[in-house]
Amino acid sequence: MTTPTPTGDIDARLSPEPVPGGLPDIATLQRWSQEFFNATPTASPPRMPSPPTAPALPSYAPLTIPAAASLPMAPSAPFGLETLLAAASSAMQPRLSAADLTHPPIPTVPDYRVPIGPASAEMPGIAAPHFYFLGEPAAARTSPTSARSAFDVNAVRRDFPILSTRVHGRQLAWFDNAATTQKPNVVIERLTYFYRHENSNIHRAAHELAARATDAYEKARRQAQQFIGAASPNEIIYVRGATEAINLVAQSWGRKHVGAGDEILISHLEHHANIVPWQMLANERGAKLKVVPVDASGQLRLDEMQRLLTDRTKIVSITHVSNALGTVTPAREIVDLAHRAGALALIDGAQSVSHMPIDVQALGADFFVLSGHKIFGPTGIGILYGRSAILENMPPWQGGGNMIEDVTFESTRYQGPPARFEAGTGNIADAVGLGAAFEYLEALGMHAIEKYEADLLAYATDRIRTVPGLQIIGTAAHKASVLSFVIDGYDPTAIGSALNQEGIAVRAGHHCAQPILRRFGLEATVRASLAFYNTCEEVDRLVATLRQLVASNGR
Ligand SMILES: Cc1ncc(COP(=O)(O)O)c(C=O)c1O
Repeated sequence: MTTPTPTGDIDARLSPEPVPGGLPDIATLQRWSQEFFNATPTASPPRMPSPPTAPALPSYAPLTIPAAASLPMAPSAPFGLETLLAAASSAMQPRLSAADLTHPPIPTVPDYRVPIGPASAEMPGIAAPHFYFLGEPAAARTSPTSARSAFDVNAVRRDFPILSTRVHGRQLAWFDNAATTQKPNVVIERLTYFYRHENSNIHRAAHELAARATDAYEKARRQAQQFIGAASPNEIIYVRGATEAINLVAQSWGRKHVGAGDEILISHLEHHANIVPWQMLANERGAKLKVVPVDASGQLRLDEMQRLLTDRTKIVSITHVSNALGTVTPAREIVDLAHRAGALALIDGAQSVSHMPIDVQALGADFFVLSGHKIFGPTGIGILYGRSAILENMPPWQGGGNMIEDVTFESTRYQGPPARFEAGTGNIADAVGLGAAFEYLEALGMHAIEKYEADLLAYATDRIRTVPGLQIIGTAAHKASVLSFVIDGYDPTAIGSALNQEGIAVRAGHHCAQPILRRFGLEATVRASLAFYNTCEEVDRLVATLRQLVASNGR
């Protein structure tokens, strides 16, 4: 039996037979309602178009029409249609299981501890690179994990469902990690869990879900504190991302402390997010923006930095890892030099925090910023770390709910940090998701990740150099996870498109860091940026595709 396709004549079906005196009798109402729902395509729930891994939809209770006798008759709704629709809609709610009525266990992070193999001076994959898709034995397809790293990359990859996606018929190779990272199941499931079991606005509510949501949100703050080694959760401010964090500091701390003739010191390596907010502040205040240069390898010139620091320098704001070149800057020395000159130090950790252990207290930074989406967490959430003593003396930068202690029309008393800087409803679910990402990374171990990625970057650097005409941009001795390059005679965008055809995702362009690319005489590069779920095999595919591209043009 097929369900009749609904047509525009539902109205006609529902139009009542003449009823003297207005309201229909109960039997008529029942019959109309039955006819209405027979004509409504909701007897079985809608199905999502289903890619192979699309999650199953929840089961819905079968649609039942409540007994007519139980339906209240509103005088303003002579035919009871609104009431019937409301009853139908409540019948369409997912059926709650007993588990839903309690607080089921939160998804947990798998145990990643694997035995560490015997130390080996060489990674098999590095000693003898192979192209697995050219048909060599599986044993040759090793990644740096096998002998020296403390985690199993193949197990880790299974945590990231998107990595098994195919693009143009090829398995996705995600080398765009500096732009954003992919999300492990625990983060995806944590978000789902939040919306299924905890969703509420936080603080100031007398009900259970507000308590759950508040607990989850504040737990994630403590997870962030622990992950970056802050002294207190009150030093962790939720923001949208690194960009918003820097703007917050520029507008709150900056407007209070930077005046005419003062100086702000940044570096040539900076992402636009660590240039423009300071430029805006400098223009507004009549202050001066000064830039620490880099050497030919793309490393910061500490000698020049020392020369540029003066007693007018109010803040030094420098990236920890360059998103365009991969340079790891000497953050500890930068902070020390700034402090010796009487300036504060902000470290932009957007590109470092996913690649190495961070301890903001050991760094001595006054501010440290990060974006959740670059560290395997959700978009739209990030962290500003600020030392308590400094945050305490900063004015709010936005006003509204949540950040106040008391409001009258005459004046407002503000909360202390972090609430003072979190006006309005925050991104609660994504903060909780970010907490799950921190937990996941802690289970993997940031030291193990750093080691694995250092080996992978060394391998990738050696392999990519074999492509004729290819020049790596950014060759500092200390780098993390970024390979920026150009190939003689090729537009970076065309290279990016050719790689895309093979399922390989890289970024081509200025990477929101135009000044540093121009320092090397370029407007764009191709950037392959690695994460711990990338493998030597993927690097081999990247290099083979580049070699084919170049060979097809006779080089
Ligand atoms: C070094 C650096 N700082 C800041 C940002 C800005 O991050 P978001 O866009 O997540 O705010 C980025 C983004 O690529 C970055 O690489």
